[in-house]
Amino acid sequence: MTLVRPVSSSVENRRRFLRYLALSPALASPLLIESSLGKAFASNWAARTFDGSDSGVESIKSADQALNVMEFEELARKALPPAHFGYLATGVDDDATVRLNHEAYQHIEIRSRRLIDVKQLDSSVELLGTKWETPIFLCPVSSMRVFDPEGEVAVARAAANKHHLQMLSTVAGTSIEDVTKARGAPVWQQLYPTNDWAITRAIIKRAEAAGSPVLVFTVDHMDNANNETQSRGSRLDDRDCSACHEKGFPGYVRGKPALEGLDISKVTALYDPSFTWDYVKRLKDATTMKVVLKGIVTREDTEIALEHGVDGIVVSNHGGRGEETLRPTIECLPEVVAAAKGKIPVLVDGGIRRGTDIFKALALGATAVGFGRPQAWGLAAFGQSGVEAVLTILRAELEKIMRQAGTPSIRHITRSFIIPGV
Ligand SMILES: Cc1cc2nc3c(=O)[nH]c(=O)nc-3n(C[C@H](O)[C@H](O)[C@H](O)COP(=O)(O)O)c2cc1C
Repeated sequence: MTLVRPVSSSVENRRRFLRYLALSPALASPLLIESSLGKAFASNWAARTFDGSDSGVESIKSADQALNVMEFEELARKALPPAHFGYLATGVDDDATVRLNHEAYQHIEIRSRRLIDVKQLDSSVELLGTKWETPIFLCPVSSMRVFDPEGEVAVARAAANKHHLQMLSTVAGTSIEDVTKARGAPVWQQLYPTNDWAITRAIIKRAEAAGSPVLVFTVDHMDNANNETQSRGSRLDDRDCSACHEKGFPGYVRGKPALEGLDISKVTALYDPSFTWDYVKRLKDATTMKVVLKGIVTREDTEIALEHGVDGIVVSNHGGRGEETLRPTIECLPEVVAAAKGKIPVLVDGGIRRGTDIFKALALGATAVGFGRPQAWGLAAFGQSGVEAVLTILRAELEKIMRQAGTPSIRHITRSFIIPGV
């Protein structure tokens, strides 16, 4: 299924124009963003420069004063050193896939229905045998302690207070044991296997011992992306960073709790480019956890995943950090959902910044919807309370649009509530 439907030439022209705007790196410049057109379509990216002077967020003194998730991005940019903000914001090459991930939601309209009893809302979903209050989950984000000293522990406490599923990165700055304790419940272990099976096995066994029910194998990141925004941020940062981390790959993984005590002398990468589907089978055979693949974006791979007994899929392009495909995840979702045929859950992330984005993803068949950067924005701005505020805002926005559109529960949010491709 494609999101693009036959449209009138004026609509098509508008769409092309919007796409042009999203693709244009120049629009990331504060000057152009000052123009009204730039403001209308690129406002979320207004905070992506390192010296941005426009703001309107200075008056925000506590997390609960933020109006929306994007305001935390600007606060994070102000709070973080350039290298850390660059690491968080970066995409690949021109960052166009990052922008398109979110911008694509602007091409989906919502068809609201009226006079439906929505007094009682039920936003709960069931995911691999567990019931969650909402379909909103926290994606794995590496090295969260660069955003706040409490890092993943602060995120876990926020997830606990607000009752959300949390996925934990292999290269988190905090151990799975400490995060599980702070969460008060098991988290899903994300897996970067590395090129050494002994390390993979050790990560798996430790996650099992910590009670993680699901292993999320990330298959979309080869370690060699051209993350220019990250490099630019580092170039602008004149601090001496050697006290916290050394340059290069060995320096990056050293000190990561998931690899603590392991012989990492053979590890040269988080992902081995020689991996094939046999590796998925190997993982399935090696663990009692359910195995979910993160980073699937096509019908073909979904079908192969089903043949290999995969338990779920996260439609993801790593938030545009691994490759510049120009293909937003929301445009990938329908073909994956169609191929999954309801046999396994299909989760999605990338560019989710509004409750209406979540609504649209659910309407296109997602079982649950996640976000990466916004949790780090909240964390950098206000620590745990920032992450809680981001979760609160997104849930409130989702529930608002559920009421407005006439969908009393998640299962009521179907394809008929949206018009894609406008
Ligand atoms: C700073 C940063 C670190 C990330 N680290 C990981 C990681 O360790 N493992 C992983 O599977 N995905 C990682 N991701 C990708 C996220 O899990 C998620 O797919 C992506 O951020 C979603 O897009 P969004 O940031 O637009 O919400 C990271 C993303 C960011 C921004």
